[in-house]
Amino acid sequence: SKELFTFHNGVTIPSIGFGTWQIPNEEAYDSVTMALKNGYTHIDTALAYQNEENVGKAIRDFDIARKDVFVTSKLPAQIKGYQETLDAFDETLTNLGMDYLDLYLIHAPWPWNEIGKDCTEGNIASWKAMEKLYNDGKIKTIGVSNFEIKDIQALLDNCDIVPMANQIPFYIGRDQKDLLDFCKKHDIVVEAYSPLATGQLLDHPVLKEIAEKYDATPAQVAIRYCLEKDTLPLPKSTHEKRIIENRELNFEISAEDLAALDKIEDVRG
Ligand code: A2P
Repeated sequence: SKELFTFHNGVTIPSIGFGTWQIPNEEAYDSVTMALKNGYTHIDTALAYQNEENVGKAIRDFDIARKDVFVTSKLPAQIKGYQETLDAFDETLTNLGMDYLDLYLIHAPWPWNEIGKDCTEGNIASWKAMEKLYNDGKIKTIGVSNFEIKDIQALLDNCDIVPMANQIPFYIGRDQKDLLDFCKKHDIVVEAYSPLATGQLLDHPVLKEIAEKYDATPAQVAIRYCLEKDTLPLPKSTHEKRIIENRELNFEISAEDLAALDKIEDVRG
């Protein structure tokens, strides 16, 4: 399977990332160290996760060059505006102890306590700040997260740079077909967060049955499914055995089994 995805500006990103949402700062150092030790070279964090400090320290302490790790962070969802975005970006770099980011995303089109609120103006202002940071060489690629088609369209209509990524909840049962097609049309890489539906998928009988056929675990099939759909999975775990398992995906899911997985209903409703 492919090792890298390529953004529309030519920059590449390792095809499985280590997700750190819900890893507390106290555990982040050990978890990220385990991930690096076991071959992950792509780490995904956010200011809102409150773990950037130890995520950054783990990467800096590990015996790997900065250029050989792909680091993503995110502009907090409630921060909308040009100067506010520049300031939040500085805070993230300080927390991480780094002088550039590989990918910076607008965390969501609306604040988490006002989901659905129209923040078009604010998103455009933030995006213009991200374009500046990109043009200044402080960020290698810029993108969005949790954006719907209309949210991306507003940036396409008002800004210069087409987002390079959209990080969305994506897992078996939540196929986001229209959004995926739209992103594909605009050459936007889709990153899949919660590829295991935050763990809720793993007992599904159909998934278990298919996993047995491949001599794989349900988690491996769920992560492999994202790759089959051309999305970049970001599995999270704090357990080494699982961290290892989640990127050992040396099998392909047949068209017939994919069709069976496509029929599974969203376990999170
Ligand atoms: P833990 O961190 O305790 O290992 P998602 O990536 O969809 O958000 O899912 C993360 C959840 O799934 C976490 O609760 C994580 O638990 C669990 N998890 C991650 N990898 C595996 C695995 N290979 N097998 C079982 N559970 C897993």
